[in-house]
Amino acid sequence: MKAARIQIYPTPDALSDAAALHIVEQAQKAVTARDRFTIALSGGSTPRAVFERLAQPPLRDQLPWDKTWVFWGDERAVPPDSADSNYRMACDALLSHVPIPRDNVKPILTQGHDLDAAAQHYARVIQGFVPGTPPRFDLVLLGMGPDGHTASLFPRSPQLHAIDELVVATPEAPLKPHVRRITWTFRLINAAAEAVFLVAGADKADRVAEVLEGPSNPRALPSQQVVPIDGTLIWMFDQAAASKLGNSPIDPTALDPANA
Ligand code: 6PG
Repeated sequence: MKAARIQIYPTPDALSDAAALHIVEQAQKAVTARDRFTIALSGGSTPRAVFERLAQPPLRDQLPWDKTWVFWGDERAVPPDSADSNYRMACDALLSHVPIPRDNVKPILTQGHDLDAAAQHYARVIQGFVPGTPPRFDLVLLGMGPDGHTASLFPRSPQLHAIDELVVATPEAPLKPHVRRITWTFRLINAAAEAVFLVAGADKADRVAEVLEGPSNPRALPSQQVVPIDGTLIWMFDQAAASKLGNSPIDPTALDPANA
């Protein structure tokens, strides 16, 4: 495990610019090395602005779409056209605007009767496509909720302790939307080559400081459990989200692509 990289940007826009550029760079590197790029998207408000940047030139034209495979790290048990669907958000903001082949898009299907079976099905989809035991994604995007959750792994929930599973179903979420979810487990998240948290807003500042600089308490703060075993962990913040961190002035070089 390597030390986490912390990158702080002056504004939410600057954070989104840097994150979008970083995704393009990682995609290009992965395609050069392995001829394909596997990414897991997150839900939440922060990634939307990043997706919108990837949907427009110049970045849209720099992503190797035909060699990019898009999965989701979690999904709400709602119809795919619901305003609460992570799949719909990514389609609206990104996927319906870019030349990605339909087969390269792998949504989590949550509309069967049995959500546990749907979770197992998604694990098989991943295993059938992404090499490694557990499968090793090139890039996993994550958000952090105000309670310290990530993906749909909520504080003190049994899903935090899943050891064998790659993907699990959850009970109704304690936060909105209060619906059941399907989520990757830490086993799958921590197998990734790179995990990137995108966190913006002053309402996250206390939790960010607690997660990064407070005592270890992963049951209460699931985001602390993201520790890629043989990969890189990057936290990308806007200044507001990072404002309670002890040693984190704005890094004026953070927008330099060489450092992003
Ligand atoms: C979800 C998410 C969730 C999200 C965080 C942060 O489906 O709810 O994947 O884990 O990433 O709650 O969300 P914001 O970016 O909106 O703060």
